[in-house]
Amino acid sequence: MDDILISGHGASSSCIYFRPSLDGLAALVRGEGPVFVAYDNNVSSFASYVSSLTGAVSSYGIDTSEEEKTVSTVSGMCSWLLENGADRNAVLVAVGGGILTDMAGFAAAIYKRGIKAVYVPTTLLAQVDASVGGKTGVNFQGYKNILGTVRQPLFTYICPQVLGTLPYGHILEGAAEMIKTFIIKDGGNYRKAVSLFSGLASCGGSRDAVRNSLPVLGELIHAAVSVKAGVVSEDMFEGGARRKLNLGHTFAHAIEWRSHSISHGQAVSMGMVLAARLSEKLSLCRPGLALELSADLERCGLQTESPFPLKELYAAMLKDKKSEDGKIFFVLIRDVGNTEVMPMSAETVVKLLENR
Ligand SMILES: NC(=O)c1ccc[n+]([C@@H]2O[C@H](COP(=O)([O-])OP(=O)(O)OC[C@H]3O[C@@H](n4cnc5c(N)ncnc54)[C@H](O)[C@@H]3O)[C@@H](O)[C@H]2O)c1
Repeated sequence: MDDILISGHGASSSCIYFRPSLDGLAALVRGEGPVFVAYDNNVSSFASYVSSLTGAVSSYGIDTSEEEKTVSTVSGMCSWLLENGADRNAVLVAVGGGILTDMAGFAAAIYKRGIKAVYVPTTLLAQVDASVGGKTGVNFQGYKNILGTVRQPLFTYICPQVLGTLPYGHILEGAAEMIKTFIIKDGGNYRKAVSLFSGLASCGGSRDAVRNSLPVLGELIHAAVSVKAGVVSEDMFEGGARRKLNLGHTFAHAIEWRSHSISHGQAVSMGMVLAARLSEKLSLCRPGLALELSADLERCGLQTESPFPLKELYAAMLKDKKSEDGKIFFVLIRDVGNTEVMPMSAETVVKLLENR
């Protein structure tokens, strides 16, 4: 599979490598500077392999959770770098899911005003989304990812084989973002993804089934990353095209705000169906698209019906951190592979959707 380049306008570029094993990492970091490995404790075996391959100076494991995705955890990472003599040439290699790569990327961005970061994402969501595009960050005062930077890593190293140990619930988290990506730009991959994930769902998402699917999953990861990398190259700081990547997310964040027990991926799935219903109300797409999308997502094992009345989501939508002058940039679906961004007030959106 070809490597993918993110090319920034005036900002740094970044490469995404696809490899069948972790072994190729050693050659890529050689000569870049002393290596420090930060990792999620749940992938300590991958991390110790990466440390030995790269001759790391030191490694630092943490237990990850949204509650611990904080400035204080990042500060702990910076203390570890300082205590172990990391200078401005240091390379911070982050091994883990999106929580770990977001925090390590943030630490790398601020430590000594910036050192190189390398991401080795170990969840499907981190491979298709969190480790691509340069957003780093932590949660603060109840707001998700409200402190952070947009800064490209030196490179991202994607090895689908590491997903063989990932619990199926977390595969589904990435599936929702992957399907979202193919609704934005299809190329025939939307159908392939629905077919793969519905096949996995029908055999209960067993670990063997996931492992057997890795060759196809790897191709779909490559396709999804190339869509995201293309969008980010066009609009690194989210002034235009990058907004499309938020398809379903305004609704999803409102749903997550109402209930902490609904995962992000499941909320994105519900949000995409609401976005499709809104598109139908605005006559932007054919009638029935929302039902078709909902049936596809359900076959994949994703939930599609928000348990909350729209009125309850309204207040949370107003908190959308990406709103400007009271307007939220809603992503609407004309068809699979054809979306558009429309600024609308939350009030208008709720009225349209309530008028069933
Ligand atoms: N920077 C971005 O652009 C961006 C985009 C999307 C999401 N995110 C962030 O990503 C985070 C979610 O990431 P996530 O879904 O990867 O969650 P996560 O990092 O919590 O990982 C999910 C779980 O899987 C475990 N795990 C990781 N790899 C494993 C493996 N190979 N085998 C077994 N277990 C493994 C982790 O320990 C964790 O328990 C959120 O904080 C979100 O804000 C960032």
